[in-house]
Amino acid sequence: MSIDPRKIPTTGQETGPTNPYHEPLDRQGAKLDEHTLNEVRELPKRFQPGSRSAVMPALDLVQEELGYLTPAALSQVAEALQLDPGYVEGVATFYTLFHLQPVGKHHFYVCDNLSCQLAGAEEILEHLKHSIGVREYGEVTGDGFFSCEPVECLGACEYAPVMRHGHRLHYDLTPVKIDELLAGLRPNSFLDRREAVERPRTARREPRTT
Ligand code: FES
Repeated sequence: MSIDPRKIPTTGQETGPTNPYHEPLDRQGAKLDEHTLNEVRELPKRFQPGSRSAVMPALDLVQEELGYLTPAALSQVAEALQLDPGYVEGVATFYTLFHLQPVGKHHFYVCDNLSCQLAGAEEILEHLKHSIGVREYGEVTGDGFFSCEPVECLGACEYAPVMRHGHRLHYDLTPVKIDELLAGLRPNSFLDRREAVERPRTARREPRTT
C-alpha cells in the first residue's frame, strides 16, 4: 500500500516549500501553449455535464504536454474551464497518477495492492529500481529517462503483477520481462539523450495503445 507524501498534513513549521502550488510566481513552472489551452477549452463539450467533468482529461493533457502539473499550468486550466483554482488543485493532488514534480520520460506505475503483492510486486519494484538505477520512488535517473512509483490497484488483478507505462498495461510481470522492456526503451543515441535532458518542455505525446 503506497502513501502519497503530498497528502500528509503539514504542521506549517517545516522549512522549505511544503506545497508546490503555493510557490512564488517566479517558480510557478512551465505554461501550456495556446494550442493545448484551446484543446482544454473544448473539453467541456465532450465531457458532460460541464467543466468539472473536463478537469481530469484536462490535467491528462497538461501532463502529456509538460511532463508534470506545474502550478502555472493548473492556474491556466482553472481559467480555461472557468473553475475555482482550488477545485482543480484538489483534483490534481487527489490522484496519484498526476505528478506535481518532474518524472522521467518513461515513468512506471507498479501496482502494489494485494493481488499484485501476492504475485511478487515487491520483487518487481525492487528489480525495476535497481535496473533503472534509482534509490527512491519518484527519483529521476540522471539522464531524465526513467522513474517509477508504486500505485494502487490498476484494475487488472487477474494478470498480477501489473505495471502501467504510458497508456499501456504490462501484465504477468517478471524480472525478465522488465529487463526486456527496459532494453527497448534505453537511450542509445546522442539525440535520445539530448531529448531526455531537455525535458520537460520536450515531452512528446505518445499514441494511446490501450
Ligand atoms: S491488485 Fe494489482 S492490478 Fe489490482
